[in-house]
Amino acid sequence: MNVSEAIKSRRSIRSFLPKPIEEEKLFKLLESARLAPGARVEQDFKMVLVTDDDLKNELAFAYDGRKFLAEAPVVLVMCYNNKRIMLCGEPVGPIDCAIPMSFMLLEAEELGLGMCWLGAFRADEVKRVLEIPEEYKVFAMVPIGYPADNGYPTKRKKIEDLVLYNKWQKK
Ligand SMILES: Cc1cc2nc3c(=O)[nH]c(=O)nc-3n(C[C@H](O)[C@H](O)[C@H](O)COP(=O)(O)O)c2cc1C
Repeated sequence: MNVSEAIKSRRSIRSFLPKPIEEEKLFKLLESARLAPGARVEQDFKMVLVTDDDLKNELAFAYDGRKFLAEAPVVLVMCYNNKRIMLCGEPVGPIDCAIPMSFMLLEAEELGLGMCWLGAFRADEVKRVLEIPEEYKVFAMVPIGYPADNGYPTKRKKIEDLVLYNKWQKK
């Protein structure tokens, strides 16, 4: 599978088989995050891998009790503590989490694994359950495992609704 194929075939997976993830696959996935680009390559992020069933159930509670989170063999919790704002006005912390996360989504596709990036959770609850230090922010929770289904297709805007050429044209 090449990168273009992975971009096209990837979908969010919200149903997982009760099958563990091989160590080497998990390593490859994490390695794709480690190798991702970042501002000054500060890499002020941490990836907490949650495999304990009780903890996963508590995390599912922080995500409105949605069960699929706890069904995944691994729940990755991405955190950062970078508070720097770049000259362009954008924050380094969340951007430097989003890129590794995106790389992992594509690597997972190559490895036959499924993931679902989650943002609709109570971060305070996640911090409490996992004893994440005060200075860290929780960026995302991501269940990872072998897919039990193929996900479902979702709409995208047309390219002409997203792209402008040269100066910003008025419609
Ligand atoms: C920042 C972010 C937050 C998301 N939060 C959630 C979430 O809380 N719950 C959920 O089911 N999916 C969540 N998703 C997954 C999106 O719903 C999904 O990417 C989108 O519907 C497109 O579908 P696809 O990933 O299958 O292409 C999130 C995705 C992103 C990038």
